[in-house]
Amino acid sequence: MTTLPKAELHVHLEGTLEPEDMMRFAARNGLELPWRSPDELRAAYAFTGLENFLSVYFQGCRVLRTRADFHDLTTAYLHRAAAQGVRRAEMLFGPQAFLDHGVPIDDQLGGITDAIDEARESRDIEGALLVSAHRHRTEADALELLDLVRPWRDRILGVGLGSAERGNPPSKFARYFAAARGEGYRTTCHAGEEGPASYVREALDVCQVERIDHGYAAAEVPDLVTRLAEEQVTLTMCPLSNLRLHVTDDLTEYPLKALMDAGVPVTVNSDDPSYFGGYVNENYAAVTDALGLTEAEVKTLARNSFTGSFAQPEELRGVL
Ligand code: ADE
Ligand code: ZN
Repeated sequence: MTTLPKAELHVHLEGTLEPEDMMRFAARNGLELPWRSPDELRAAYAFTGLENFLSVYFQGCRVLRTRADFHDLTTAYLHRAAAQGVRRAEMLFGPQAFLDHGVPIDDQLGGITDAIDEARESRDIEGALLVSAHRHRTEADALELLDLVRPWRDRILGVGLGSAERGNPPSKFARYFAAARGEGYRTTCHAGEEGPASYVREALDVCQVERIDHGYAAAEVPDLVTRLAEEQVTLTMCPLSNLRLHVTDDLTEYPLKALMDAGVPVTVNSDDPSYFGGYVNENYAAVTDALGLTEAEVKTLARNSFTGSFAQPEELRGVL
């Protein structure tokens, strides 16, 4: 598992902030946190659901202020991922939280892209950036975000949509995704995590996204499963996240294998590894144990991670 080459397609850079680093960044930026030690912080990681998790996650975002913070965060993740056999990481990142704190977009994206360039050389891992809008905000905010990141267009592979799902359907962001497509971005959308299967349909039909982040709720709807298989829509599933946020309470019933058996290209990812108790390999291990996956099935998951990535075919030469 450790050395099996794989891609990670669903990880939020902000969700890779380890408690020790949160404390360190807070101290170096002269900021107070409600927790006095990494252990006290870890004790706050008993989440009741997505919105409760997001309140802790956005508190963590408060400590990231400088170009060096974004650089160091990205470097730490890419090094850890490379050590787990990750050869390509498509990393979601939501600038809006940091803009709220007055952090210039150039400091955010400059720090991240410097770290991507360095890790390509030092660790042989390809990092790619997916800018993610917050769905609890307005579509006008998301369109403004597209304007703001336009100078960085050649360093951004695609766009996504995250944050509080219920009550914020993909259709609220139809124009955002249309505008992103018009600018040549690849597209992905969180759907069917806490929200219903209809949100997965909306993401495909109204927003025309290429990939679905999570897609858990789709598993209960046979005709949607058939469609995902027929259209070969990649789902970026995150088992430990779904467990910790009570999307599922038992990984032995996790629909990943059923979806795979039905022909849906599913992948395994970490989402917010520092908050959910595992990076990508711990997620592979958890589903392998719970579902009794064979070695061939694990290899299929790893293969799906490359074929479902937004890499150009020539970038995959040597890994497929
Ligand atoms: N942002 C970070 N983690 C998320 C998740 N699990 N769902 C939606 N938005 C997120
Ligand atoms: Zn996510």
